[in-house]
Amino acid sequence: NELGVVAVGFSGGQRKPGVDAGPTALIQAGLLTQLKEDLGYTLHHDDEVHNYSSLMPQSDPDYRNMKNPLAVSVVTQRLATQVYDHAKHGHLVLTLGGDHSIAIGTVAGTSRAIKERLGREIAVIWVDAHADINTPETSVSGNIHGMPIAFLTGLAKGEKEEMFGWLGVEPKLSLKKLVYIGLRDVDKCEKKVLRDHGVRAFSMHDVDKYGIARVMEMALGHIGTDTPIHLSFDVDALDPQWAPSTGTPVRGGLTLREGDYIAECVHETGSLVAMDLVEVNPSLEAMGAQETIRAGCSLVRCALGDTLL
Ligand code: ARG
Ligand code: MN
Ligand code: MN
Ligand code: MN
Repeated sequence: NELGVVAVGFSGGQRKPGVDAGPTALIQAGLLTQLKEDLGYTLHHDDEVHNYSSLMPQSDPDYRNMKNPLAVSVVTQRLATQVYDHAKHGHLVLTLGGDHSIAIGTVAGTSRAIKERLGREIAVIWVDAHADINTPETSVSGNIHGMPIAFLTGLAKGEKEEMFGWLGVEPKLSLKKLVYIGLRDVDKCEKKVLRDHGVRAFSMHDVDKYGIARVMEMALGHIGTDTPIHLSFDVDALDPQWAPSTGTPVRGGLTLREGDYIAECVHETGSLVAMDLVEVNPSLEAMGAQETIRAGCSLVRCALGDTLL
């Protein structure tokens, strides 16, 4: 029952300040104490919220339409090593973000560790209102938090080492081992990519149609038993009623219970190797910050084995 924790106070994958304060808010709300005392985990945490200030480039001009490309690349490269170091020791790894660009680092880290330790490919369950599969060329915003899946799957290629070239040529994630849940704001170019590659995706329409229980059966069925799972949970998958304090809220989302249920089902597989919780921005929607933080804590507890009874 060993848990590696990485707290990442990074906001460079998007334009709104404040998401770098997400980890501190979650920790101050008692999340890590609960994991230790209520769920019985042995925590491996350096007691730091990393802002990687020493890695930040002096100047970071747009490149191929990307905003802050050098900063996001160097931070995710460093984060990949941190996550890898936990995962190679067999620790379950919890990363608290930060914006969703950090998943470039977390998924790269678990992917490499699981390949080395178990000789297996990981599957990723991406719970999000958004598909985050834009390439630098298809992105309208230029924000890299909308691109992590493209870099991880090789749809977007890094070039120079310091411009995501460190990811290497071998994709960190297969599009066949990716499942989305909660989608409702997908860009036109992203929809085409999802269709062309036959990516398994459960939108809010599917949640309405089948119910969350059936959606989880189908999602986990696609992944298959005994495949290591990395759960990347963007808090904006939840409806703004439950999680208003996030940079790109979209109405019509998951209820808190549907979100918790997804996390509980992933826990029940026994195959969870890593979880990210991202896009909690306590500075937005001041009135809703506490609600959002509570929702985030609940999602993490559920994924890590908290049960209702
Ligand atoms: N699709 C939009 C973009 O590429 C929004 C992405 C939102 N991503 C997120 N992680 N909240 O800019
Ligand atoms: Mn250990
Ligand atoms: Mn999102
Ligand atoms: Mn996202």
